[in-house]
Amino acid sequence: MVLKGDYMTLRDNIISMLEKNKGEYISGQSIADAFSVSRSAVSKCINNLKNEGYDIQSVNNLGHCLKATSDILSSAGISAHLEDDIDVYVFKTIDSTNSEAKRAVANGLNVDTIFASDEQTSGRGRRGRSFYSPKTSGLYFSCVLHPNVSLAESTLLTSAAAVAVCEVIEEATKKHPKIKWVNDIFIDNKKVCGILTEAVSDFESGKVQAVIVGIGINVTTEQFPDELNKIASSVGENINRNYLAAKIFTKLKAFCDSLPSIDFMNEYRNRSLVLGQTIYFNRNGIDYTAKAEAILDDGGLSVITDKNERMILQSGEISIKLN
Ligand code: BTN
Repeated sequence: MVLKGDYMTLRDNIISMLEKNKGEYISGQSIADAFSVSRSAVSKCINNLKNEGYDIQSVNNLGHCLKATSDILSSAGISAHLEDDIDVYVFKTIDSTNSEAKRAVANGLNVDTIFASDEQTSGRGRRGRSFYSPKTSGLYFSCVLHPNVSLAESTLLTSAAAVAVCEVIEEATKKHPKIKWVNDIFIDNKKVCGILTEAVSDFESGKVQAVIVGIGINVTTEQFPDELNKIASSVGENINRNYLAAKIFTKLKAFCDSLPSIDFMNEYRNRSLVLGQTIYFNRNGIDYTAKAEAILDDGGLSVITDKNERMILQSGEISIKLN
């Protein structure tokens, strides 16, 4: 399902054109001219898209307009907002986009790729947890990237992804998302996004073969299972999911390409929800209370415990009291 250049069908080309001109009318003739087809082929395709659920308004003498609020996740829709030629695979439903990406890498995928789904039936979170992924209201996608880094350095992409998500959401909504170490995105003290990074490494070279950065955003989700109700929320604004996925991928890839430069870590620190705060964590069965004093360049969290002992946390769960 590679949707670029010669492989694009008329349907994909029309979705892409409508998506790029969302909220505006395009005449049937100019669509027909753009893709060297007849006007009746365009009408037929537009009708099919309407039947699929695309919110397209067709008006005599004006043409066709994809409503600004239309939000159907699609490969052509994501590609329309990408600057580079990136392969994009979109599913209506899948177990997990990270699992699908891993299967693709295992089968030889070696180019940067996006896997997205409208719904996940077995969405995976960190530490073996599941990630609630209901259809239509969330964005679940995995970016397969190929940085020239070691396994240890690849964890930096998690921090880069957290910054990319925050910046794109802020540009689109003017809300100010914050990052709870390691990589949960919070708005108004509730989690709206989680990130799961997995690496496939080359045993011999010690280098990473591919990094899979999986991002799950509750965009408009209103109802959560009981156990999540108190801690989870959504961005709460109708940001177009195709746009979100494309812009986050583009930013993340730029950060990835800039490695070993880690300028994004400054923004990560600026957005930290934990720096200067009292935090609680458990290591090797012992409960600690500590103050979070710094985030190191490798993403580690430097803390001073209430016994005045400095510790560096590299991963794992911490708690913080949020008001
Ligand atoms: C977490 O909060 O613990 C991380 C959640 C990561 C969820 C995303 S959704 C897209 C990708 N596919 C998955 O199965 N997980 C990640």
